[in-house]
Amino acid sequence: MTSSSLAKPQLIERIKTKVRRFFGPWGVFFKGFVKHPVMVGSIIPSSSRTVKKMLAPVDWENCDLFVEYGPGVGTFCQPVLDRMKPGATLLVIDLNEDFIEYLQKTFRDSRFIAVHGSAADVNEIIVDAGFEQADYILSGLPFSTLPDNLGPKIASETAKAIRTGGAFLVYQFRARARDFMEPHFKKIDSGFEAWNILPCHLFWGWKD
Ligand SMILES: C[S@@+](CC[C@H](N)C(=O)[O-])C[C@H]1O[C@@H](n2cnc3c(N)ncnc32)[C@H](O)[C@@H]1O
Repeated sequence: MTSSSLAKPQLIERIKTKVRRFFGPWGVFFKGFVKHPVMVGSIIPSSSRTVKKMLAPVDWENCDLFVEYGPGVGTFCQPVLDRMKPGATLLVIDLNEDFIEYLQKTFRDSRFIAVHGSAADVNEIIVDAGFEQADYILSGLPFSTLPDNLGPKIASETAKAIRTGGAFLVYQFRARARDFMEPHFKKIDSGFEAWNILPCHLFWGWKD
C-alpha cells in the first residue's frame, strides 16, 4: 500500500469532521430529514422561543422523570437539563438511530438517558429504566404524518405513563395534535409560537 492511498481516506475523514463541526447539530438534523423526511417531519430544529415557552409551566421541583419523544439532535435536551434538579432524569426516545448515537456522544450528563425506540413503547421503556411513571412527557413527534393508528396509540400509552398531576407537552405545526390528546386529557392549555420554522401550536395536557 502506498502512502498516498493511506492518506486519501484520512483526508476524506478530516474533511468530513470539519464539515460536521461547521454545520453542527443543524447538519446532523438536516441529514436525518433527507434520510427519513416523514419520520423527522421538519427541516430545522425548534427555535429557542418555542423551547422556552413550552417548558415554562413545568414544576421542576416536583419532576423526577422527564421524558422526551423525538428529541432529534437535542434542541430541548440542554434546556431541560439546565432546569432539572440534580437527582432527576431526562429520558429521550427516538426512532432514528443516528440521532440517538449523536445525542449519546453529545450529552455527557449522568442524568441523561437516550433510548433508540418508539414512543409507542414508552411504558416498557420507562420500566426498563427503573421508573414507574413519568412526571412530564414532551413530544416533538410529527403527529399528523405518523403512520395510521400510531398517533392514537402513542397518546393512550402516554396518558398511562404520566403520573397524576403531571403533563403531556406537545408542539406541532398543525393543531391536529390536540385531537390525539383530547380523549385522554380533560384539561388542555394551548399556545402558539410564531418565531419558529414553521410557526407552531403548543399544547399542555394535564393528567387528572
Ligand atoms: C420534528 S422532529 C423534532 C426534533 C426536535 N425535538 C426539535 O424540536 O427540534 C421529530 C422527531 O421525532 C422522531 N420520531 C418520529 N417518529 C417517532 C416515534 N414513533 N417514536 C420516537 N421518535 C419518533 C424523529 O426521528 C425526529 O427526531
